[in-house]
Amino acid sequence: QWTTSSIVDDQVKRIADQVGDGRAICGLSGGVDSAVAAALVQRAIGDRLTCVFVDHGLLRSGERTQVERDFVAATGVNLVTVDARERFLDALAGVTDPEEKRKIIGREFIRVFEQAERDLKAEGDYKFLVQGTLYPDVVESGGGEGAANIKSHHNVGGLPDDLQFELVEPLRLLFKDEVRRVGLELGLPETIVQRQPFPGPGLGIRIIGAVDAERLETLRAADAIAREELTAAGLDGEIWQCPVVLLADVRSVGVQGDGRTYGHPIVLRPVSSEDAMTADWTRLPYEVLEKISTRITNEVAEVNRVVLDVTSKPPGTIEWE
Ligand code: XMP
Repeated sequence: QWTTSSIVDDQVKRIADQVGDGRAICGLSGGVDSAVAAALVQRAIGDRLTCVFVDHGLLRSGERTQVERDFVAATGVNLVTVDARERFLDALAGVTDPEEKRKIIGREFIRVFEQAERDLKAEGDYKFLVQGTLYPDVVESGGGEGAANIKSHHNVGGLPDDLQFELVEPLRLLFKDEVRRVGLELGLPETIVQRQPFPGPGLGIRIIGAVDAERLETLRAADAIAREELTAAGLDGEIWQCPVVLLADVRSVGVQGDGRTYGHPIVLRPVSSEDAMTADWTRLPYEVLEKISTRITNEVAEVNRVVLDVTSKPPGTIEWE
């Protein structure tokens, strides 16, 4: 019978054995897997672990703070943040095709992460790379041992295979719910441990049209309101996730305050799901929808309409791009 604390003890011992007196690097995404993996390795080897967090500017409101302040406070981990916002905006300028956006974001992410690694390696010998690979990922990718066999689809952290690191993967035998329990056992904040899925390419694939700083601000503000109201209504456990999407290339006429507006619609995409392979649209209470709609149109300039996506998956995917 595996208890959560015995999983922690066992993994900490294994990590300590594997890494010995070496040093390890871990990329943090803001998500639960990389956070729990890093916290376990931190337990085992302390400040011989350095975490790298790339701010690509496509994060939601508060996510950078959650990593820089809350995660660091909970673990005492060494953290290097790379502010790559300009770089990603430049690379994405004018790009509207979803696959092209994903490729650009993935490519830039790898370049920034590799540069951070080189900078760190110049200071010391980092031989180990920590990955938050879960058991379902291992199964999906054929269970390859050893080599940097990291699933590239859906993962902005998908790293090239010529990396000269030995992998440390303390979550390899765990399912998501076990990872969350381990995270809680390690004292990580609820905001990280209970976080709903969020795609690696972030808000970049929730702006339908080209990505720019102003559109990101608009979407970030609308997303923050939707999340706040869903949480306040106690609905986080019921929904799998609720993408909030900005139709940046669509305008519609509205009347707000004293006059006519010509703004953009925001789409709410609340879904219920077991594993994201299929999903149903969540029947949110009308009062909650009303609150979100009123607040977004009142508080977010440029948005004059809120619409609800009532498509299941299939035929629609969860994300719009
Ligand atoms: P779709 O849109 O394919 O999404 O129905 C299924 C689940 O995967 C998430 N998703 C991603 N996660 N990188 C990620 O890490 C990605 O590129 C990506 N695209 C989609 C999505 O949020 C949903 O939970």
